[in-house]
This record gives sequence, structure tokens and C-alpha cells, in this order.
Amino acid sequence: MSDYNPFELNTKALCNVQCRELSAKIGSDRVRYMKRIWKSKFLILTAIWGLLFSGIHSFSGVSAASREPVRAPHAMVASQHELASRVGVEIMQRGGNAVDAAIAVGLALAVVYPEAGNIGGGGFMLIGKANGEARIVDYREMAPKAANRDMYIDMDGNLIKGEGSSLIGYRAAGVPGTLAGFDLAFNKYGSGKVKWRELVEPARLLAAKGYTLSKRLADRLLAAKEGFALYEDSNRIFLSNGNYLKEGDVLRQPELAETLGRIASKGAREFYRGRTAQLIAADMKTHGGLITADDLKNYRAVERKPLRGNYRGCEIVTVPPPSSGGVVMLEALNILEGFDLRKTPYDSAGKYHLLAEAMRRAYADRSEFMGDPDFSKIPVTSLLDKAYAAQRRSTIARRKASNSKDIAHGDIISKEPAETTHFTVVDQTGMVVSNTYTLNDYYGSKVTAKGTGVLLNDQMDDFTTQPGKPNMYGLVQGEKNAIQPRKRMLSSMTPTIVLRKDGTFWFALGARGGPRITTAVLQTIINVIDHDMDIQTAIDAPRIHHQWLPDEILYEPNGMLPDTVSILTGYGHKFAAKPELIAAATGIMVDEKGVRFGAIDTRSDGMAVGY
Ligand code: DON
Repeated sequence: MSDYNPFELNTKALCNVQCRELSAKIGSDRVRYMKRIWKSKFLILTAIWGLLFSGIHSFSGVSAASREPVRAPHAMVASQHELASRVGVEIMQRGGNAVDAAIAVGLALAVVYPEAGNIGGGGFMLIGKANGEARIVDYREMAPKAANRDMYIDMDGNLIKGEGSSLIGYRAAGVPGTLAGFDLAFNKYGSGKVKWRELVEPARLLAAKGYTLSKRLADRLLAAKEGFALYEDSNRIFLSNGNYLKEGDVLRQPELAETLGRIASKGAREFYRGRTAQLIAADMKTHGGLITADDLKNYRAVERKPLRGNYRGCEIVTVPPPSSGGVVMLEALNILEGFDLRKTPYDSAGKYHLLAEAMRRAYADRSEFMGDPDFSKIPVTSLLDKAYAAQRRSTIARRKASNSKDIAHGDIISKEPAETTHFTVVDQTGMVVSNTYTLNDYYGSKVTAKGTGVLLNDQMDDFTTQPGKPNMYGLVQGEKNAIQPRKRMLSSMTPTIVLRKDGTFWFALGARGGPRITTAVLQTIINVIDHDMDIQTAIDAPRIHHQWLPDEILYEPNGMLPDTVSILTGYGHKFAAKPELIAAATGIMVDEKGVRFGAIDTRSDGMAVGY
């Protein structure tokens, strides 16, 4: 790919645009003939321009500017709500480390960012110590014991819709993991300098006293009104019994404040074995949900070894299964490493073509090979083998899109040794937490367990609810991700840390957005490593998404020039019917002098705060 030349792409764009104009006037056979003529003319021009401008690679057309990242000398929190970020900073100012701060941020977000922040969901916390060691706390939800493979399929063999489905109502919830995960992280990796109670108290106060709703949050609550209206406590708390909260109103959550008060004094086990557990189990029983007191008692967060990959000499530390995020991203990076992306402008057709092809292949493998590693063997080593990537890469044509129906999963030779939200924290010592957690859909199942103020997730939809049928994100998933009691559903969350070539911490990031999380993190990493962007610009830059099925490129409003669309269409790529914003990331970068730079995606709200 070293001869890849942006100017070639621009001439090709012109060719396609001109041909489209012609196409309106004359018949399609004639257009094909004209296209050939235009192509040959422009190949000559291309060659000349290529010779003249071969050193230039920063040509680009889509986004002109991005704001400066937030700077701080000591510590930084980047989260999707300013209040939560401030809570984290205060914990670190009191002597807490990044893990303590992350827990306090996570609990505060459960109050001030209820669409995704939670104690009724689950996620993954990647902890990186200043000495390079890293651990993952996996607190992904588990299927209740009474769950079974076909629980969302009706008598006629169709997926159940509405109440009773994997998306809304009591049956959609997996056993929550957030508090168990925070508890594990606190006991093993907390500083020991702040008490558990101190981490919970800011969230409790925010729930008890309330906070002023932004327009965005008020709009979000309204957008969920049909779901909320079905569930008594959700209707009362979040819709104010039909009086709908507006921008500037204060949202108070007294039941959640009480629940947090109990958790502050009795610890996380209160949620799993105490009054909160009783309330959740009783409400589940009344409404035909599956989660029992035993399910809550038996939930366990677990520690896992993070995946470590390498992209152009930089180590990438990321999440292992049961999230597919790390494997899919590293496989795609391995494929892309064989192309000289520095020579392709970040928003060019040539770059997007390669991205889409790498994503297509990695997502085909996701469907076939991935699920909960505690239930089946996931061939992670084989999928992340550089030779396997070379084999996958060799099936990519330079200017021709593959067809997803021809791209099955790869043949691996076994080498086995045997609306979500992301926040990032860097503390004074350089310890890092990259945490993604979620209720799945906005406000999860829309159920608030009676008397607790706790919104429950609808994470069961991340399982293969019906083989061959797409889930909420259009993902077609495989057998390894079928529902089984006490199994963790496959995720796309991708909390990640990137190290410099000398092994020092460079940046950490993650995103929300279902399967788009993985491709957003992937492209942000490429933007930093291959296109020399700072963390804010890298996060803001337009991106694309391809997930094998549906066989189409998703692009963003104002994110792709029409010329680029034309070229890619000419290669045979198909596009989603309408553009959409792709995921929302947050991240922190640390420069060689130790300055922290925090960045929140311009696509979303939130604020990085440091000191
Ligand atoms: O674990 C997953 O992959 C999904 N449940 C994440 C959902 C998500 O990101 C929704 N955010 N907008």
C-alpha cells in the first residue's frame, strides 16, 4: 500500500460524479462506456499528480476543527456528566486513587446519567497501574438461572416483541453486576485511603437533593415515555406521572437515595443479599421476571487478564471475552497494520474502504467464534495471530468491496493454549481506569424495581435470542452466544489503554454505542497513531462503521464527502439508508511531561475535569 495516493482518489471522485451526471442524460450502457474513458483519462492525470505530490498526506476535507482537550497537571476524569467528573476529582484530591475515583464516578452517573449510568446493569473496568500491569474486572450481567435458549421465541417460532421480549420489561433483565464489580475493584485495587461510604455518599446526595435537568436529559426522558409509562415506579420517577420533567426542572430520586444509603452503610452485599435484593426479587416475582433472590446472591464479578495486542509498535491493552470488543478491534488493527494508513488521508475513500473490509472480516469472526469464555472455548490466540491477519488481509482487493455473504468466518488453525457510557480516570500516580458499563438500551428495560429507584438493564438482548435473526443493533450472532443459565451475554464494550513504543502510558479510551463502540475505539486509535491527532481531534473525527451484517457502511451526517461516497459505491460498497452518529467516546491522553488531556466526544454531552 506504500504507493497509495490521495490525489488518485480525488480524480476518481471526479470521475464518478461526472459519470453520475451523465447517467441522468443517457442510458446505462453508454455510461459504462463513458466511465471507462473517464477512468483512463484520469489515470494519466493521477499518475502526474501522484509524482508531483507524493510526499503530501494530510489532505482532508471533512472536519476543520475540534476544541482543545481539557488540560490538568495531576489527575483527570472524563465522563458524560460534569457532576460525575467533579465527584471523581474530589475523591482523588482526598487521596483516593483512580479506582476509588472511578467507583464514585460510576455511582454518581447512576444518578445523573440514568440512561446508561447504573447500578442495575453491568460492564467492564480496565485498571492499568503506573508500572504497566493491568487487570480487568468483568462485572457483566449473567442470565438468571431460569433463563433458557428459546425464552424469547413464541409458539409460532417468532421473536417476542414488546413486553416479555429481550428488550423491555422484567424478562429482559440480566442479573446486575455493577456493584459486585465496584466492590471487587475497591477491595483489591482501591487506595485504602478513602472509605467505601465516601464513594457512595456523593451519589446518594445527588439522588436525595436532586439535580437540574439539561435539555438533552429532559428530551431523553421524554423519548422513553412509552416504555416508562408501562412501569409504575418508572412512570412516577422519570415521567412525574405524566407531568413530564422539562429542562431546568430538578430530578429527585428519593428511593434511589435510600438504596444508596443502605449500600453506603452495609456495602455492595446489601444489593445482592439485603433489603434491595428482597425488593428486586419480589417485584420480579409479581411481574413474571426471572431474577430470584438466589440469582442475586450467586452473582459474581470476576477478574480477567486483559488482552494485549500490538499496533505499529504500540501496545494495546484491552478487554477479553465475554466482550467481543477487544478481539474484534485487535483483529481489525492486525489486518490494517499491513497497509500504510499514514499515506491515506483519514477521511479518504481508500482509507474507508480498508477500514470497512477489515471490520467486515473481524465482525464475521465475532459472530462465529465469540461468547462467554466460561461456557465455551474462544479461540482468542488464533484470532489475534498476525499470520491469521495476513491471511484475512490477502482477501481484500484494493478497489473492490467484498460481499459479506462471501466473507464467512476465517479458517483458524487452533493455537489455543488451552446507550452505555464510558469514563476514563487518570490519577496523580499515573494509575488509569478505563470503564464502560451499561443498561444496554437507553434506560435499559425501562423497569424501575419497585421501591428501590434502581433501573434494570435489558442486557438479555445481547445474547443470540434467535440464531440468524438480528438483535437491536442488527448484529447476527452465533451459537456460542446462545442463552444459558448463569452465562454472560457477549458484549461489544471496548475499554482500552494504549502504551507508547517505550511502554509508557499514552492514552485510554472507550465509547458507548453497541457494536459501534468497537469500531469507534479502533478508528480513534488509528487517528492518534497513524494520523498524529490529539485525543480530542481523534475522538471528534468522522468515522464509519461496518459489522459484516447488514452488508453496508454506516457513515455520519456531514461525515463523508459525496465524492467519497461515489468512489466507495464505485468499489461496490453499499451504504446504510441514512447517516447516523457513530458511538460517543471519552478518553484521556498523557504527554511525555505528564500533562493530562481529557476529551469528551462532541457527539455527546459530558465534561472532562482535572486538577
Ligand atoms: O454490551 C454491549 O455491547 C451493549 N449492551 C452496549 C450497549 C450500548 O453501547 C448502548 N449505547 N448507546
